[in-house]
Amino acid sequence: MAGQILIFDSGIGGISVVREIKQLLPQVSIDYLFDNLYYPYGRLSEEQLIKRLVELMSDVVNKTKPQLLVIACNSASTIALPALRKALSIPVVGVVPAIKPAAQQSKNKVIGLLATQGTISRDYISRLSNEHAPDCHLIKVGTNELVAMAESVFRNHAINLDQLTVICKPLQNTVDTLVLGCTHFPLLKNQLQQVLPQNVTLIDSGAAIAQRVCSILIKKPDNNICFRAFYTERYQDDSLNQSLAQEGFSELVYITR
Ligand code: DGL
Repeated sequence: MAGQILIFDSGIGGISVVREIKQLLPQVSIDYLFDNLYYPYGRLSEEQLIKRLVELMSDVVNKTKPQLLVIACNSASTIALPALRKALSIPVVGVVPAIKPAAQQSKNKVIGLLATQGTISRDYISRLSNEHAPDCHLIKVGTNELVAMAESVFRNHAINLDQLTVICKPLQNTVDTLVLGCTHFPLLKNQLQQVLPQNVTLIDSGAAIAQRVCSILIKKPDNNICFRAFYTERYQDDSLNQSLAQEGFSELVYITR
């Protein structure tokens, strides 16, 4: 059986969501799509992103026929969900930066948001913090460098912790709770914990998305569980392929778009 769930990201960040979903639904086939042709999304305009996402998702959903689609990308979810829901006839689950739980957990009421520059600049974020964290001071750090670092870590390449320390400087000795508002960033949890004070709690949305997926997926017996990874630009990258295989994605499929 082909993937019952299609999980999407620009790169390998969505793997942090795949891991959570696999924990709750180990018996379900998953297709993972990464748009390496247009990666990174953090630098694209809203118009470019919406157009690209609607075209690509309509095409891949049509080809792979999943039960539901997970947009495991904050840069995409924060602007394209209404257009995608309009264009597709299957449920579309998006990611929302975990500002609400962070505000509830924070003791000193200073919370951080680490996300791509695109996500940080969206009105959506201001609305989210006004609604769910009115009593908190929100320190926003927009960084596209961390996305590239997460891609490296996923490939088992070393990253420069000094550079990470510099990026995280505004969060030092201020926040007690930090929202990872990009699905790439949970892949850097260990490294972030090394450069941030020990009392800082990191929060992401992966587990909540998995719960949501679990609640709406119609469970069907699947005797031939398979994990396929689709990509949009041909590449030669053995370390990426090895890491994808370790996650269970040994079948790689190039999809023209
Ligand atoms: N993983 C994506 C996100 O959650 C972003 C990566 C990119 O900028 O392409 O925002």
